Order: sequence, then structure tokens, then C-alpha cells
Amino acid sequence: MTNPDTEGPLRTALSAAIRAPSPHNTQPWRFEVHGDRVEVFLDRDRVLPVADPDGREARLACGAAVFNIRLALNGIGRAAVTHLLPDPHRPDLLASVRVAGNRVVIPSERMLAEMIPRRHTNRRPFLERAVPDAVKATLMRAAEREGAWLRLVERPPEVDAVAALIRRADTVQSEDPAYRAELRDWVHGDVNRLDGVPTRALGPRARTPGLITLRRFTDDEDPSRERPFEQQPLLAVLTTPGDAPIDQVQAGKAMQRVLLTAADLGLCSSFLSQPIEVPAVRAALRALLRAGSPHVVLRLGYGYGGSPVPRRPISEVTRLVSDTSTGMTLQGERSDHS
Ligand SMILES: Cc1cc2nc3c(=O)[nH]c(=O)nc-3n(C[C@H](O)[C@H](O)[C@H](O)COP(=O)(O)O)c2cc1C
Repeated sequence: MTNPDTEGPLRTALSAAIRAPSPHNTQPWRFEVHGDRVEVFLDRDRVLPVADPDGREARLACGAAVFNIRLALNGIGRAAVTHLLPDPHRPDLLASVRVAGNRVVIPSERMLAEMIPRRHTNRRPFLERAVPDAVKATLMRAAEREGAWLRLVERPPEVDAVAALIRRADTVQSEDPAYRAELRDWVHGDVNRLDGVPTRALGPRARTPGLITLRRFTDDEDPSRERPFEQQPLLAVLTTPGDAPIDQVQAGKAMQRVLLTAADLGLCSSFLSQPIEVPAVRAALRALLRAGSPHVVLRLGYGYGGSPVPRRPISEVTRLVSDTSTGMTLQGERSDHS
């Protein structure tokens, strides 16, 4: 990063990129800096082979990183030109974001950018406090701005049906020794580790099996650590019309705008990904909702905050490459200038 005009903005952008959420905090990304451009790659070595064999959730995480890069640049008054790259010859190159000229800082975007380091997954019980309709509408608009839909699950029969699918997928996964072994590799109590899910970020177990079945990260059966969870969580499924890798990246951008918007509105969020990770259940969820391809199930509500968990530093995930042509194929790309 030698150009003083772009060096600072690129550092800001990369610091934001690494704060994206990812399954089990695997951080499945790599970045290359080519002059004024950041290329975002899927890091296949960090894709979960059991829970996410096709890398769909890892692509979502990378899409969230792309969104953070753009938002962070906009937040400091720089424009960003983003290309999502469906290049069959380089399938792991997911996107490129170029730092462009100066741009007026929009206060709402700056506030959203300020949420990047503060947003975190909250696996604790939420309060029994309903999310107002105006807030729900804002969240849905956030998804639409990034080319996705946020399908709220609110009608009682549908809530029950989605809850049953989550339970079904959770049972399939917890009966799979390979899944459990994979989970054990990523959950830890090591304060020096910079990836994985630290035990301090886990919530208690639900005292009575409520509506939602959160992922069980450990086999801890201690009843004294059980707590009642909210009985009426707001469930939302993020969907897109297509389900190709580029749609998964796009969905990741939308997911991150929704999560940051939720944080900005004082909401907590967590994920219920079991039905996405079990293909037969994902198909059943898609058929039930009839709103395109589901990518992520979110639980949203009011609660008490936790704290962010570590990330690997920028230096470990970024390579500086000289400013030459990369021979990128931009055909079929999806671009945005903002
Ligand atoms: C696509 C995706 C799926 C996830 N699925 C789950 C899940 O099912 N259960 C869960 O507790 N957390 C889930 N997470 C949250 C990650 O564990 C979390 O993002 C990661 O540990 C980093 O923590 P942070 O979100 O607090 O920054 C998911 C995250 C992503 C991006």
C-alpha cells in the first residue's frame, strides 16, 4: 500500500472487512491489494467440510466482508466501485472493490459504518419485547437495497413450521459424529486464539424447549446453566431469486446490511443456520416460504449486549500485489458504484 491517497482508505476498508461474521468464526477470506483495488477471495482451507461442504455460507461471509469494505470507504467519504465476479476460471475470486474519488458522507451510512466493530452475534436470551412494525420495515428495506429479500416469519402456523424445520435439521446434525467433531475443533476457551467461537460468546441452554433451537456448541448438560429464552422471537429468512455462488455473495452483502441496520436500531441478532446446512431441510424451507432461495435464518430482538470476538489480523489475510493488470474477466459481473 504505497499510494498515500489510497493507503489509509484501504487500511480502513480491510479493518472493516475482517469484522464480517462467518460460520464458526472461520474467517474464510483472503484479500489481495492491487493498487487502489481490493480483491476478495474465498479461502477454501477455511470452508467447513461437514457443515458447509459447498462453501455457500463461506461465500455469504465473504459477501459481508465486501459490504463492510464498501461501507467503510463510504463512511470516510470515499466512493467504492464493487464488482461481483462470476469468473469460472477463478471461482474463488468473488469480488473486487476499487477505491474511487471523494464522496459526500451520508450520516446514516456513517452511523452504519460505526456499527461494523460493534455488531456481534448474541446467543443469549432476548427480552419479550416485540419489534415494532416500522423497525421490521427498515430491516426489509435494508435487504432489498442489496438485491435480496428479508422474509419475516410471523404467522403462527408458519412460525411453527419453520421452528420444526430448525429442530429437524438440528437433530440430523447432532446425530452426525463428523459434524460434532468439526464443531469441537472450532469452539474453544483459548484466550489467545484469533478464530473459532470462544466459549465466552456462547449463550446458556434453553430451559424449556421453546420455539427456537439454537445451535448447541458444547455437550454441557449442567441444568444450572439453563435459562428461559424468549417465547416469541422475530425470525427472518434472507432470500435471493437465484442460488449460484454470485447470489450467495450478494446475499452476504444483504445479510450484513441487515445485521448492521439491526445493530444501529438497538436490536440484537443471532443465527439459526441448521436448516440451511442440511440440504433436504433447506429445500423444505424454500418450498414453505416460496420466496426464492433461503441463505440464512436470523433471530432478532431486544436484549443485553455481549462483546465482539477476535479476528485474525489484516496482515495474516492480505497480500500486496503490484499494480498490474490481473486479467480479470468482468463478463456477467454485477457492479455497483456507491
Ligand atoms: C453464514 C453464517 C452462519 C452462521 N450460523 C450460526 C449458527 O447457526 N449459530 C450461531 O450461533 N452462530 C452462527 N453464525 C455466527 C458466527 O458464529 C459468528 O459470526 C462468528 O462466531 C463471529 O462472531 P461475531 O458474529 O460475534 O462477530 C453464523 C455466521 C454466518 C456468517
